[in-house]
Amino acid sequence: MIVIPGPASKELGEAVAAKLGVRASPAEHRLFPDGESYLRLPVGVEGETVVLVQTTAPDPDRKMLQLFIMAKTVKDLGATRVIACIPYLAYMRQDKRFLEGEALSLDVVLGLMEAAGVDDLIVVDAHSSSSLREFEAGHGVKVHNLSAIPLLAEYVKKHGYGGAYSLSPDVGAIHLAEAAGRVLGGRHGYFEKSRDRRTGEIEMKVKDLSVDGVDAVVFDDIISSGGTTARAVEGLKRQGAAKVAAACVHALFMPGAEEKIEAAGSDLIVSTDTVESKHGKVTVAGLIADYVKTL
Ligand code: R5P
Repeated sequence: MIVIPGPASKELGEAVAAKLGVRASPAEHRLFPDGESYLRLPVGVEGETVVLVQTTAPDPDRKMLQLFIMAKTVKDLGATRVIACIPYLAYMRQDKRFLEGEALSLDVVLGLMEAAGVDDLIVVDAHSSSSLREFEAGHGVKVHNLSAIPLLAEYVKKHGYGGAYSLSPDVGAIHLAEAAGRVLGGRHGYFEKSRDRRTGEIEMKVKDLSVDGVDAVVFDDIISSGGTTARAVEGLKRQGAAKVAAACVHALFMPGAEEKIEAAGSDLIVSTDTVESKHGKVTVAGLIADYVKTL
């Protein structure tokens, strides 16, 4: 087995290789002056199973294309199986035609993976595992969706949140709060969130959660603008919660996101390293490596 960390996940790819007990062979990469990516794979791959590790944020378009280029190249050069490990898979949020004429971006991405020769796709906390399953059926790529929520919950538990109330920002993500609640040992629940499909504005209803004096943790798959998490944290603090932590798997953190969440009163912000971030205190390297061993 050969592990090739792509330009977007050099550190994580090396950690995955180390956990698998193999040497990492990072892809050589540079940018041409016009912005095109040059990629070269530094090892022979003929007859090998190749694990590509490449996240797709920030700059999802470029990173996705780099992944396609690497996958096609290793397949062309004789790899027998290509396992694309994309811890944060961009384009998953557009998995339905919410408005007439919208693109099914997730479907397009899976089609391109198949064309590039990807046999297996490993993702961490897919935005919608049911959509992933649905589109998987139409393509020749086997999808594996892992969850880092128990690891995040372990982290917050060690940092003073044992027994805390686990919350997800909406009912669709209740499985995140449920999984975290199993680790933290407290109650779990959700907020009522709706998004205006045209403006992207979110509305969050904070029902009475009876959190007076209680510690709470908001678990989300993605923090992007920080608006969703900030509103949840603010609502909890307004209802008298003691400490409130914000935990997410994929730390996209657009400019101002962190400040928004801190201003809302968050006492702790933590994410995994699916996307590089200063909040990425929880690594998914072991989770991925252990799973790869089972394939
Ligand atoms: C959306 O449905 C996701 O689960 C996240 O809640 C969302 O992407 C967070 O976005 P933002 O940080 O911009 O509110």
